[in-house]
Amino acid sequence: MQNLLRPNDFDNFIGQKKLKDTLEVMIQSSIQRKKQIDHLLFYGPAGLGKTSLANIVGNMLNKKIKYAQGPLLEKKADILSLFASITKGDIIFIDEIHGINKNVEELLYSAMEDGLIDIVLGPEGDQRIMRMKLPNFTLIGATTLFSKISQPLKDRFGFIGKFTRYSNHEIISILKNSSKILKTNIDIKALKKISSYSRSTPRVANNLLKRCIDFLTVKKMKTINLEIVNDAFFKMGLYKYGLTDQHIIYLKFLSESFKNNWVSINSISGIINEEKTNIELEIEPLLISNELIKKGTRGRQITEKGISYIDEWNKENKVN
Ligand SMILES: Nc1ncnc2c1ncn2[C@@H]1O[C@H](COP(=O)(O)OP(=O)(O)O)[C@@H](O)[C@H]1O
Ligand SMILES: [Mg+2]
Repeated sequence: MQNLLRPNDFDNFIGQKKLKDTLEVMIQSSIQRKKQIDHLLFYGPAGLGKTSLANIVGNMLNKKIKYAQGPLLEKKADILSLFASITKGDIIFIDEIHGINKNVEELLYSAMEDGLIDIVLGPEGDQRIMRMKLPNFTLIGATTLFSKISQPLKDRFGFIGKFTRYSNHEIISILKNSSKILKTNIDIKALKKISSYSRSTPRVANNLLKRCIDFLTVKKMKTINLEIVNDAFFKMGLYKYGLTDQHIIYLKFLSESFKNNWVSINSISGIINEEKTNIELEIEPLLISNELIKKGTRGRQITEKGISYIDEWNKENKVN
């Protein structure tokens, strides 16, 4: 299915100004000097626009993009077949590039640096090296886990761009554009509410907007207003700042058992019955960015703000 909401050019790509400015200069320079644009690495949390920006780079340069998934590049043959089909000037986009098998990652080094891939063929004692010479290409890598990328791989990118979370103002602009594309009326209070539940993430904001459109459609109304948004969020089990039931369970545990104490992630994991990595990647970031908990060497602690959040939640949801 075509993604109507994916921006195709810089004008429709909101925010990430520094990143955009640098890329626009790199693209202009590449066009003027008739030189292949350098390899690019984009990193940052999911849904912030890495794939979209890679597409835009391709569009601006009028180049084809070949897509690949890092975790699916397991064997030498996978890398070879990826490169075998490129033609001069192509862009190769490797998503979740940290997931490439470490044994084949080395093949990328010489491919990126010298445009060569050396493969050792034949049985031990009678080995030959086959050298594959590649046409000029640009590799764009994207990752949510920057720390998992090895230094030698990082070093081969000419530019490394970090994606940061979006301001409310930026999310509202994105939502306004999206509602136009989706031919839906929405009032400003509704826009602000969706933005405040979006976790500062365009993908989440757009998905929430689409769910509100579903509610609007079923209610046969003309404009998305606060009432529709509140009703949709309530039915979806979403609370202030976009928290879900998982976040609430976590916060309740800290507020009921450990109000003034630090608690280790292992205890939290055991009691709320969630895997540690899930807690760290899926639950805590939103709680930390909203200052509902804090993280230290001794573990986690709920903040004053976290305690009042849960008190209010209990009142609104009529629990004691
Ligand atoms: N800067 C932006 N401006 C407008 N829409 C955006 C922007 N960044 C992301 N989006 C929206 O969010 C969706 C997800 O973005 P995507 O590029 O797939 O994120 P990532 O690859 O970082 O996970 C896009 O399809 C688009 O609808
Ligand atoms: Mg992506």
